[in-house]
Amino acid sequence: MRLHVADHPLITHKLTVLRDKSTPSPVFRQLTEELVTLLAYEATRNVQVESVEIETPVTATTGVRISEPRPLVVPILRAGLGMLEGMVKLLPTAEVGFLGMLRNEETLEPATYAERLPDDLSDRQCFVLDPMLATGGSLGAAVEFLFARGAQDVTAICLLGAPEGVASMKRKVGDRDVTLVLGALDERLTDKGYIFPGLGDAGDRLYGTV
Ligand code: PRP
Ligand code: URA
Repeated sequence: MRLHVADHPLITHKLTVLRDKSTPSPVFRQLTEELVTLLAYEATRNVQVESVEIETPVTATTGVRISEPRPLVVPILRAGLGMLEGMVKLLPTAEVGFLGMLRNEETLEPATYAERLPDDLSDRQCFVLDPMLATGGSLGAAVEFLFARGAQDVTAICLLGAPEGVASMKRKVGDRDVTLVLGALDERLTDKGYIFPGLGDAGDRLYGTV
C-alpha cells in the first residue's frame, strides 16, 4: 500500500479551519470540497491515459486523454458525499457509484446499508472518498468490496487519518494495488474511536445534525 500524506501550507490552513469547532456547516462543506480538489491532484497522479492525435491551430501533435473504462468515484455515505463535488470537478468524466456505511459507535464495526455500484469493476480504477480514516473498519470494508467486484486498483482520499487506521489498512490490503492519500495524519484514536485531535463527527459537521 502506498501512503501519501499531504505537506502543503494551503491544505494545512484549510484543515485548521475545518478542525475548529466554531466553523459552521456551510463553511465546513465549502472547505471540504476545496480540500478534496487539492488532494485529488495527488490522488490522480496514476490515472490511466492513452495517446490521442489532435491538431492545434499551429500543428498536428500528440496528447493524452483519460482511458476507457472511465474511473469510478465512490463516496462512502454519508460523510463521503461532502467530498464528491470537489472530486468530480477534477475528474468530470468519471462515473460515480455509492456505498452507504455506518459505524456502530459501541463496537466500532461498520455495517453496509446501501450499495449502488456496477457489478463488474474489471479494469476499473476506483477512487474512494471518505473524510475520516479512524479504525479503518469502514474504508477496509469498502476496499474489499471493490476488489471483490474486480477493481484493478483503488485510491482512497481521506481528509484525516489515524495511525491505527493506516496500520489496519496495511494489514487488510496486503500486496493489492492500493494508494491512500491523507490531508493529515493525526496523533491517535481516543478510547471512543475518534480521531485525536481530529475534527469531531464529519457527517454531523457537514450536515448539521450534531
Ligand atoms: C464515519 C466516517 C467514516 C467512518 C470512519 O462515518 O465518515 O466512514 O466513520 O470510522 P472507522 O475508520 O472507524 O470505520 P459514520 O459511520 O459515522 O457515518 P456517517 O458518514 O453517516 O456519519
Ligand atoms: N468518524 C468521524 O466522523 N470522526 C472520527 O473522528 C472518527 C470516525
